[in-house]
Amino acid sequence: MDHLLVRAARGEWTERPPVWLMRQAGRHIPEYRDIREEYSFLEAIKTPAVAEEITLLPWEYYRPDGVVMFSDILTVLEPLGFSYHIESGVGPVVENPIGGPGDCDRSHDDVARELDYVGELLVRLNERVGSETAVIGFAGGPFTLASYAAAGGPSRTNMPLRKLRARDPEAFRTLLSSFADVVRDYLAFQIEKGADVVQLFDTYAGVLPPEEYREFVLPLHREILADLGAPSIVFVRRMGGRLDLLADSGADVVGLDWTVGMGEAREQLGDRPVQGNLDPSYLFGDPTFVRERTREIIDAAGSRGHILNLGHGVNRDTPVESVRAFVETAKSVEREQ
Ligand code: CP3
Repeated sequence: MDHLLVRAARGEWTERPPVWLMRQAGRHIPEYRDIREEYSFLEAIKTPAVAEEITLLPWEYYRPDGVVMFSDILTVLEPLGFSYHIESGVGPVVENPIGGPGDCDRSHDDVARELDYVGELLVRLNERVGSETAVIGFAGGPFTLASYAAAGGPSRTNMPLRKLRARDPEAFRTLLSSFADVVRDYLAFQIEKGADVVQLFDTYAGVLPPEEYREFVLPLHREILADLGAPSIVFVRRMGGRLDLLADSGADVVGLDWTVGMGEAREQLGDRPVQGNLDPSYLFGDPTFVRERTREIIDAAGSRGHILNLGHGVNRDTPVESVRAFVETAKSVEREQ
């Protein structure tokens, strides 16, 4: 029998919505913070036994229907020749960001070799939870990755990359396309190593005007997601009012942030499977509030093709009881066909 999450991703009827949370394996879990006392973030993701242990923390707490491999979208920077680290209080820092338009045409090293630790993690996860729970892989999208490579670190407005687009659109196109190539290989590698579902996080691409998104981003999403061999989910923030651009990506499932009403999304997308979309800040309310708001989303989404998730990642100080209430709301649904 296929995993519930895979069935929902294909648009099938499900007796209840499958549930997982973006960033479920991170800092809201006390044991994660303990492990991070011992290992830096990069050590943790590059040591399969440690990454496995972290991935399984939320599984032990909540038994979600999917475990998302503990890693980061930035891992593909290394096969493209960038070095990076995560600085506490700052976020990701790229040590050798792109130097100018002449630096945008990049070829990548073999991902199976450079990112072998991710392959090993996926194999381990399959051995641990594979028969019960879907294993979720992921990669960053070209715009989001290029925005780190251009800025050298987090950039709230993505200005360095948008300036490149304004000054030299061909260099911009080339940079995005270098990322799309490595991401496509990387997702194929993850599926080969046992990912049941993959999510493409092009979180920041929604800052582009629609015509720019259509010209530069959409064709790359289509290229990355075509014929992958496992169901895919696309996630971009700030896409309300233009969900068609996500539907056209070729992903099986359209990820929704919390600014889109679930009812509205259904109207725009018909029976296309969707994922989402509780506001992560609602998890700071009491469990009754969490259950009520979650139930509204489940009801508005209906019984086919809905994966329950937040509208973005879990925040760091989120109470464990709220996450539990969220997951249990999905698990308590019993539908008759
Ligand atoms: O969902 C999961 O549980 C899997 C893990 C996961 C991480 N990052 C772990 C992580 C996933 C799916 C990501 C994706 C990611 N990383 C995105 C796209 C997703 C999104 O949030 O929209 C982006 C833009 C990044 C880049 C990145 N890496 C950021 C912004 C940060 C946080 C920096 C900070 O200090 O707040 C990281 C580091 C990172 N990745 C952490 C975790 C748990 C924090 C590391 C720590 O300090 O312990």
